Amino acid sequence: MKKLITTVASLGLLVSTVLANVASDQKALINHFKTILPSVEFADYTNGVYAIDQNSRKQFEEILDGIPPYEEAVEKGGKEYLKFGLSKCSPLKDPAAARIKHPYFDEATQQVVTLEGTIKKCYQQQIGKKLDSKKGKIARISAWISDQAVGQKINVKVESAGAQEAYEKGKTFFYTKRGQFNMSCADCHVYNAGKKARADILSPVLGHTTHLPMYRTKWASMGTLHRRYDGCLKNMRAKPLKAQTETFRNMEFFHQAMSNGLEITADRYRK
Ligand code: HEC
Repeated sequence: MKKLITTVASLGLLVSTVLANVASDQKALINHFKTILPSVEFADYTNGVYAIDQNSRKQFEEILDGIPPYEEAVEKGGKEYLKFGLSKCSPLKDPAAARIKHPYFDEATQQVVTLEGTIKKCYQQQIGKKLDSKKGKIARISAWISDQAVGQKINVKVESAGAQEAYEKGKTFFYTKRGQFNMSCADCHVYNAGKKARADILSPVLGHTTHLPMYRTKWASMGTLHRRYDGCLKNMRAKPLKAQTETFRNMEFFHQAMSNGLEITADRYRK
């Protein structure tokens, strides 16, 4: 009996430390940003650099007030969602619910499942072909699906030992220095957020995943979160990784969890 009680007690402890990690990691980040960017409200982190710099915010708002360059693409994504039969796949049947559910840790495969991963799988089932992971159809379809969940809050759950391990791996990747410049993601998006790097202001990691997929002027097209990961790795002169590889999926799990409580937005534009 005593043994049972101790086992139950330590299990309880394990679960609560598992759950506490995401919340305490995020709290530490929120406190850090309160210190370095005291005028930014939590909800405004969805706007990335535009939450920080008033001049670029004005341009951003003008773009949103006109016909934003992603509008047509997102609409097309909605048509493609139907045309390719993705509404017939049960994980995507309710698009708003699908956006909120992903990314999640799948206990059966012990892998992080991303929204784009699920779209790719359904597309393959329905059409019998592979879908690119970074741009084109996948970015349009994923953006349209996310648009159905606008105003709902990101709520990534890390609830098992396996999920915890994936989360920790993703977090470690984010904080590890790499590449020719020996920098980590955190060097730019945590410690130096709000500062200038050449012509760019560095965005804070909080809110990073609320508006993806997005349209970037630099790309002149839409791209997924992993397309952006790839771009930042290149900027760091680090070894490139393929979109949807396990490393990126684990990082996304951590990265999205740090936006927990922030609203998904349809303002999918960055310069
Ligand atoms: C040398 C600095 C630097 C490093 C290191 C870096 N980035 Fe970036 N990143 C940028 C710049 C500059 C931008 C464009 C301006 C902005 O939004 O911050 C950007 C943009 C982004 C965005 C889009 C933000 C938005 O609001 O649309 C994401 C997501 C991102 N980076 C993730 C990462 C990840 C993940 C890593 C590590 C693999 C990383 N970055 C490493 C400089 C960096």
